[in-house]
Amino acid sequence: MSSALALPVVDAGLADRLQARLEIVESELVRHVQSKAPFVTEAASHLLAAGGKRFRPLLVLLAAEAGPHPEVDDVITAACVVELTHLASLYHDDVMDEAALRRGADSANARWDNHVAILTGDFLFSKSSELTAELGSAAVRIQAQTFSRLVEGQILETRKPGDGEDPLAHYLDVVADKTGSLIATSARYGAMFSGATDEVVEALTAYGEIVGAAFQLSDDILDIASDSVESGKTPGTDLREGVPTLPVLMAQAANDPADARLLELLAGDLTDDGLHSETLMLLRVHPALDRARDYVVGRANEAKALLVALPVGPVRSALEDFADLVALRTA
Ligand code: IPE
Ligand code: IPE
Ligand code: MG
Ligand code: MG
Repeated sequence: MSSALALPVVDAGLADRLQARLEIVESELVRHVQSKAPFVTEAASHLLAAGGKRFRPLLVLLAAEAGPHPEVDDVITAACVVELTHLASLYHDDVMDEAALRRGADSANARWDNHVAILTGDFLFSKSSELTAELGSAAVRIQAQTFSRLVEGQILETRKPGDGEDPLAHYLDVVADKTGSLIATSARYGAMFSGATDEVVEALTAYGEIVGAAFQLSDDILDIASDSVESGKTPGTDLREGVPTLPVLMAQAANDPADARLLELLAGDLTDDGLHSETLMLLRVHPALDRARDYVVGRANEAKALLVALPVGPVRSALEDFADLVALRTA
């Protein structure tokens, strides 16, 4: 991964502290993915070494700055726990989404096969659980509840909305569960283990939940708008898999007669390369893309409003910038 901090932090002291701790997290992660079987180590190290933004560990470290003891070892351990859980979910997600590219590298399912990818994901999740045990039973319970929500979200995404259920509400539930859950826990762990007050822990958990949803919504917009050089993933994967995301749901809800061709394409199967690229092209110039971006900015502002529980200063500013960065992501 790049050694530069993913978040430009204005306060130099804070930036240096975060950078130094992220480097510790990075070397700890390498240690945690070791197995007695060299092939398992190779498979488990594959995506860790390929890159990644390390957003969740960064949020743990940043949220920890809101408590009196951000330097304690438990904060580093918690940062490793959330990244390992995330990493595990990526191995499984690429199987579900039949994705060939991840973090600019071959996905594990493409490089080896689905069995290797699924079992490596399981191995990483077990490593994460083992590490969580070092943090005590409260952390174990939170980790288990978080992973339940993540998996529920992943499964619900494969199901159509129920009868009478609004497709947008269904999608937003999926997003909250599959991504908001772990990002909320990242902020919560950071605040908890640095000894922040209950009020701050609660505010940061709620902040993380919304930032996490915004992060996924931005990711879904990028799936349409960006190319694979920027994202390290194959664009249009959601369309190909028939997963309607925010811009698609907004275009469908508007039901504009001028969009007849787009709506017809969206209603059909998009595994055909020609139909897929035509749909992608129409969506890229559609006003729903900007409407979706505006919605995400609104969510980031909601998250920032929760930060009133923190004193004004460099940590609160960095958390505000973190929410903005998520809403305006370009990669
Ligand atoms: C990808 O997460 C999966 C989503 C929840 C959108 P990231 O965008 O954090 O992926 P990496 O860790 O940087 O590769
Ligand atoms: C990933 O969702 C969410 C989890 C791994 C829990 P996506 O399938 O939308 O993410 P990308 O685009 O593959 O990273
Ligand atoms: Mg995916
Ligand atoms: Mg997916």
